[in-house]
Amino acid sequence: MNTAGTFSESWLAQREQADHDARATAPMQAAVDWLATRERQVPWQLLDLGSGSGANVRYLAPRLPGPQHWHLLDHDDALLGHAVERCQSLRDNTEAPIHVTTHQRDLHALEASWFAGIDFVTASALCDLVSATWVEALADACAAHCAATLITLSVDGNIRFQTDDVAVNDAEDAWLLEILAAHQRRDKGLGPALGTTAPQALIDAFTARGFYIVDAESPWRLTPAQRPLALNLIDGWAAAAREQAPHDRQRIERWWQRRREALDRGHLDLHVGHRDLFAAPEPAHASR
Ligand SMILES: C[S@@+](CC[C@H](N)C(=O)[O-])C[C@H]1O[C@@H](n2cnc3c(N)ncnc32)[C@H](O)[C@@H]1O
Repeated sequence: MNTAGTFSESWLAQREQADHDARATAPMQAAVDWLATRERQVPWQLLDLGSGSGANVRYLAPRLPGPQHWHLLDHDDALLGHAVERCQSLRDNTEAPIHVTTHQRDLHALEASWFAGIDFVTASALCDLVSATWVEALADACAAHCAATLITLSVDGNIRFQTDDVAVNDAEDAWLLEILAAHQRRDKGLGPALGTTAPQALIDAFTARGFYIVDAESPWRLTPAQRPLALNLIDGWAAAAREQAPHDRQRIERWWQRRREALDRGHLDLHVGHRDLFAAPEPAHASR
């Protein structure tokens, strides 16, 4: 991504399977249960913030009860076009077709009108890009509309190079990852970014509003089979580090070459920590 918060379709496509494999079971099940225990004659209204090309909808729609009407919001019209093409034939967990509408919007300031009539708010790989103020506004909007929320794949900074499930991170990794974490806190167009503090900020915001919370780890576990994604990732980290610490270019190059070669040769796995969170105004068994 660049600092204006734009993401290429090819990057989103490359990470989609890893994202889907990483999803945590407990928050997802809590979301299914919450919707399933509510009587519904009209379609569920589901809002996907920062939907990109629709990967989150492709994961959720077939697992959630219907009928479903999805509202996809993103500032990138081209990604929204891909989302429509790739989501309109999806079916819910009873095999009924879903309905999808897209809206090109800048999410910088959340607008109350986006949440009117919405039952379920979701976002995937978004909330580490947003600010603490944004998360507070999201929690306020969900509370005002008694909407549940599922926020997935927020980075938590737990990055490990591994062999046989044992971390081999050294002092150079720690140094580089600290620079990366600082870069992740830069403003990406949605205010000073939370970066690796996003998972805790989400828990705090929804807990403060009395929401029931289910939170769990959802790491990428990239083995040599996912080498292209792992290589792309550390290329991106090195680029971010060069931007963040331009005076340390040579040290960054040494780190990058060493870790890239080990990943490329299949000598290392890469663990990239994320967290998923489900939050609802009340637990699944309570009636609405
Ligand atoms: C990491 S991508 C995740 C996309 C999708 N949720 C997924 O899981 O593949 C972040 C998304 O947020 C969108 N985004 C970033 N900044 C935005 C802004 N200010 N307004 C609207 N969308 C934004 C990007 O266009 C991109 O689609």
